[in-house]
Amino acid sequence: MKRNFGLTAVLLGALFILPGTTAGAAFEAANGKTLAEKWCSSCHLVSPDQAKASADAPPFASIAERTDEDLDRLAFFLLDPHPVMPNFSLSRDQITDLVAYIKSLKQ
Ligand code: HEC
Repeated sequence: MKRNFGLTAVLLGALFILPGTTAGAAFEAANGKTLAEKWCSSCHLVSPDQAKASADAPPFASIAERTDEDLDRLAFFLLDPHPVMPNFSLSRDQITDLVAYIKSLKQ
């Protein structure tokens, strides 16, 4: 009886933790969108609401179509961006947020 009670407590705990994780990812993506609109939208089409961008830079929606491993590698790309991109020196948190935002655009 005592043991079952312990198990129930663990399961209830898991119910509280799981939605928290999702909310964290949503928060990161929302923050990433703000960063992208501020710093990336002069070249990239960063959201469906944006009308104009540079033709050389891939729209974030098409970057989002890559595999998950590719999207995880974006974090490394953003630590040391391509020469055509201005050197932003983004913090790790900002990179996490930007990658979360790009991932959220995946259909
Ligand atoms: C001055 C214009 C410019 C700005 C600002 C800019 N980019 Fe880029 N970005 C480019 C161009 C051009 C490419 C295409 C490079 C190529 O394929 O050779 C690119 C490519 C990329 C790629 C694809 C890299 C790959 O693996 O193919 C990512 C991801 C990216 N940019 C993210 C960002 C993020 C995030 C920001 C904002 C923090 C940003 N860019 C701001 C011009 C820009």
